[in-house]
Amino acid sequence: MTKRIAVVPGDLAGLEVIPEAVRVIRATGLDYEFEEFEVGAAPVLRGEPAMSEATFEAVSQADAILFGAIGDPRVPDVGYPAQVLLRLRFQLDLYVNLRPARLYDDRLSPLRDPARRGIDLLIVRENTEGLYVGMGGRFRRGTEHEVAVQEDLNTHHGVGRILEQGFRRARRRLCMVDKSNAMNHAGGLWQERWAQARAAHPELETRHLYVDAAAMELVRDPTQFEVIVTGNLFGDILSDLTAALVGGMGVAPSANINPETRRGLFEPVHGSAPGIAGQGIVNPVGAVLTAGMMVEHLGDEDAAKRMESAVRGAIRAGECTRDLGGSLSTREAADAVIGRLRD
Ligand code: IPM
Ligand code: MN
Repeated sequence: MTKRIAVVPGDLAGLEVIPEAVRVIRATGLDYEFEEFEVGAAPVLRGEPAMSEATFEAVSQADAILFGAIGDPRVPDVGYPAQVLLRLRFQLDLYVNLRPARLYDDRLSPLRDPARRGIDLLIVRENTEGLYVGMGGRFRRGTEHEVAVQEDLNTHHGVGRILEQGFRRARRRLCMVDKSNAMNHAGGLWQERWAQARAAHPELETRHLYVDAAAMELVRDPTQFEVIVTGNLFGDILSDLTAALVGGMGVAPSANINPETRRGLFEPVHGSAPGIAGQGIVNPVGAVLTAGMMVEHLGDEDAAKRMESAVRGAIRAGECTRDLGGSLSTREAADAVIGRLRD
């Protein structure tokens, strides 16, 4: 059956890379139908909501959402990107955020030691709880006695289900990251749920790190990690770090999924990149790899593999944008991938 994809390019860099990602999917020959939705700065600047209710309903019904980026300096409200993105993550209960980091070519590694370059890891980030839920408030606002409280929400159910996803996605090694030495309540729940999950999965080698140590170990030797499972904020921070280990934000893909309902929103990690957007130089690889994760989620594993191999080939040949040492435009870099798709 034809799969229906809701395409939401969003703002700036998103508008440049998402059409290229769609072009790559089409070139694989997959029978997908694409419907595009306008979300982001354009409606806001017309005095409309960033994402209309009708759009929210429509994208919620699609088989998958291919999302670009939200954020535009012409919109002064710095909170509006989060409103759109977090709303979709929360309301569709996309509790698993998968952020893989693979090094496709040694030259992209910032690490000196060649032995530290076999990077192929996955961050499994909790995506619907933690410090992102927007609970809390500001009291005595605007006075010298103002108090701001941001609640860190962690539930038995939420922690349990994300840990389970970590176990399912690891083949050999799973590392859980928290900050239970300082955050006793939330950390206590994570530790208890971790002990239960480990007991249920004796087949895997497990390890626990505090987030500060995890950041250090990721830089010291990222090859020691296979899957890292962690909370919302730590996953956000560590996934920028892991992107930098494999070529930067331009190559980092992500999937926001609910494995039970099969709903999914797929977005490159790089955001709208206002500093470089609009010049035709934004790297489409993050979006193409993201589209690959979507295609895999929809059950078309062969096409997903072909897309990833084509990206690897183009990067190794230097046929890529300047952030990866090439000289191609966004469109040419996507063409280089398309030219390498094999049946
Ligand atoms: C990301 C982004 C978002 C997040 C922002 C835009 C709310 O940084 O997808 O990593 O923190 O999750
Ligand atoms: Mn982030």
